[in-house]
Amino acid sequence: MKSYHVAVIGGDGTGPEVTREALKVCEAAGRKFGFTLNWHHYDFGGDRYLRTGEVLPDSAVEELRQYKAIFLGAVGHPQVKPGILEKGILLRLRFELEQYINLRPVRLYRAEDCPLKDKGPEHVDFVVVRENNEGLYTGAGGFLFKGTPHEVAIQESVNTRRGVERCLKYAFELAGKRRNGKPWKGLKPEDVAAGKTAQLTLCGKTNVLTYAFDLWWRTFQELAPNYPAVKSDYAHVDAICMWFVKNPEWFDVIVTDNMFGDIITDLAAMIQGGLGVAAGGNINPEGTSMFEPMGGSAPKYTGQNVINPLAAINAGAMMLDFLGESQAATAIEDAVIQIINTKVKSLAAGRMGYGTREIGDLVAEAVA
Ligand code: IPM
Ligand code: MN
Repeated sequence: MKSYHVAVIGGDGTGPEVTREALKVCEAAGRKFGFTLNWHHYDFGGDRYLRTGEVLPDSAVEELRQYKAIFLGAVGHPQVKPGILEKGILLRLRFELEQYINLRPVRLYRAEDCPLKDKGPEHVDFVVVRENNEGLYTGAGGFLFKGTPHEVAIQESVNTRRGVERCLKYAFELAGKRRNGKPWKGLKPEDVAAGKTAQLTLCGKTNVLTYAFDLWWRTFQELAPNYPAVKSDYAHVDAICMWFVKNPEWFDVIVTDNMFGDIITDLAAMIQGGLGVAAGGNINPEGTSMFEPMGGSAPKYTGQNVINPLAAINAGAMMLDFLGESQAATAIEDAVIQIINTKVKSLAAGRMGYGTREIGDLVAEAVA
């Protein structure tokens, strides 16, 4: 029987609670599809930091590098200054493990969970590929004359040819295989006639950020002919925000830089039903990837059994897919859809009609 070793960082606040449900559901899928999961728990997070002063020791990064997958609950603690845990754990692992893709599927499972008028599951089904190692997130920049009236703060966006190219390649390839060769419904008849089955939209700001997005645009143009089945498309980030609300059905796969990706995926999470269901993967296709629900640690709900574990469960499904268990991943997502459509009242914390554990049990039973 196949067996996987996975590192688990439950983290802060409600992180451990939602993680427990995700692991439960992954185990149920393992029983059904014939594999076992060995969880290796690590206690990094706010409590450990407050107790020991340690955020993430160097040795831990090296240890985590030995795994193919890490499951992360949430980081963020009300008694720890913002940035310490986010930069010290989440961003450090994304960077040091070269998880250069942040993959964010955006799928609405039930019309009533969407705040948009007249939009249903047939309108909201796309993926955002966010560059995860560069851009404004590298920490390049600094202060001059800090604290004086002449203070200057510079925060630089770093975009390398290598970084941009590997991200775009990943996105083109994903677009090419996402529909298994079946044309995406948003394509025009003439595109389908021309052999297109998918669409990749580059989200940028070429009219203002004329260095960074010039590099993205040129690289995009150079790569496009290698993917004849993918229709390439471009939109400015501000327009994308407008169209996510007005015409989300226009999107299939979207690729963008780190900062824009951060922003548009929160907007995207809201149109798919909120942070209760939104999951993401920090992907290093050749190395260690890390899967997480998109919501934060929601400290005020800690220990109350009211937080929605479906985002964590979806992150678990993404992790199994990454490990090669695609049938198990599909079964979990199908179970989530079934439970949302037959049981769950609302996706918001405390209004689900069930507790955190009960939702986990329902999905695990549906998988079995
Ligand atoms: C996300 C989060 C992180 C980010 C924070 C917690 C550092 O918002 O995963 O989108 O900005 O990338
Ligand atoms: Mn974010």
